[in-house]
Amino acid sequence: MLSPRPFQAYQALDDAACEERIVAAKRTLGEDLIILGHHYQREEVFRHADVSGDSLKLSRQAAASQARYIVFCGVHFMAEVADILSRPEQISILPDLEAGCSMADMADVPRVERAWQELATVLDPEEQVTPITYINSAADLKAFCGRHGGIVCTSGNAHSILAWAFAQREKILFFPDQHLGRNTAYRMGVPLDEIAVWDPELPFGGLEESTLRRARILLWKGFCAVHQLFRTEHIEAFRRRYPEGKVISHPECSFEVCQQSDAVGSTEYIIRTVFASPPGTRWLVGTELNLVNRLHEQCLSQDKSVHFMSPIQCQCSTMFRIDPQHLLWCLENLVAGQVVNCIQVPAPIADQARVALQRMLEAST
Ligand code: 13P
Ligand code: SF4
Repeated sequence: MLSPRPFQAYQALDDAACEERIVAAKRTLGEDLIILGHHYQREEVFRHADVSGDSLKLSRQAAASQARYIVFCGVHFMAEVADILSRPEQISILPDLEAGCSMADMADVPRVERAWQELATVLDPEEQVTPITYINSAADLKAFCGRHGGIVCTSGNAHSILAWAFAQREKILFFPDQHLGRNTAYRMGVPLDEIAVWDPELPFGGLEESTLRRARILLWKGFCAVHQLFRTEHIEAFRRRYPEGKVISHPECSFEVCQQSDAVGSTEYIIRTVFASPPGTRWLVGTELNLVNRLHEQCLSQDKSVHFMSPIQCQCSTMFRIDPQHLLWCLENLVAGQVVNCIQVPAPIADQARVALQRMLEAST
């Protein structure tokens, strides 16, 4: 039996050499292959995506795809979702297994189970609390939500998912991103004094019993290291310089940044909104650098300016791990009949996670 080609043979290739060979491998694989690309991917990879999008659009695409191989140019939880939502004979591949998400790693099942048990000493969580996991989380946390009447959300559907959750039970436990939870709940009319932060390092999340009883939403103390670099002083400096300018941010940004923004939404929403704006509009954008640079280039011909919110050129280092060399390595192995970096969620976890994901797909508007 043949063994897969090792990655070492690809490491030293330059991007231009990879480019031609990726195109050739894609042509050979034809309809057996779909490449899904998140908007944060670097340009040399992004241009090979058959479908690009935010997490919601790409998970819908994974569920609808007929291709035998789904190569996910994104991060680990995205390839897991593709595996869970696709048919059993389809294969989900992540070109570099090191491409994780540091925010997703901030919550894990042991600590969420402990929080659930601690809540049970004060409340009846199965009757009173809907668990929601942001899609940026491991499959076993989605399975936890599936088991406990909960659901998954993305930045693109958080409002309708929170509305669904409040229709089931009076309170929400939201993990791992406190900012998406707070920004969404507040926009839905939940006052800040009914939003509490659950610190997983402290017993009972560091909260008094009275706070647990009063809170409508408990936010896990997680965050995205990229989006926390955007600050209100960056918005203030932009507005001083360009009073007519518009500000748009991702809901993983802080409450203060989102409050000072003209619009807040997922990566797909940001792109759509900037494209739909009139010629001459100047935008300050609070999300990852690769997306903003691409948007800047695309908007030049539309006479629009796109500025990156932070003076620090921060990008998502894990998204950046997917490079043309790893993509080519996966594709040429597929051409040779070998699968490398297959992401396969064990069946019991996948079944329960699918319940929470299906609820999300049905409740998204
Ligand atoms: P989107 O679903 O908006 O693309 O966001 C994913 C993400 O990881 C943002 O940091
Ligand atoms: Fe995770 Fe933040 Fe990277 Fe998005 S930008 S994948 S939340 S680390």
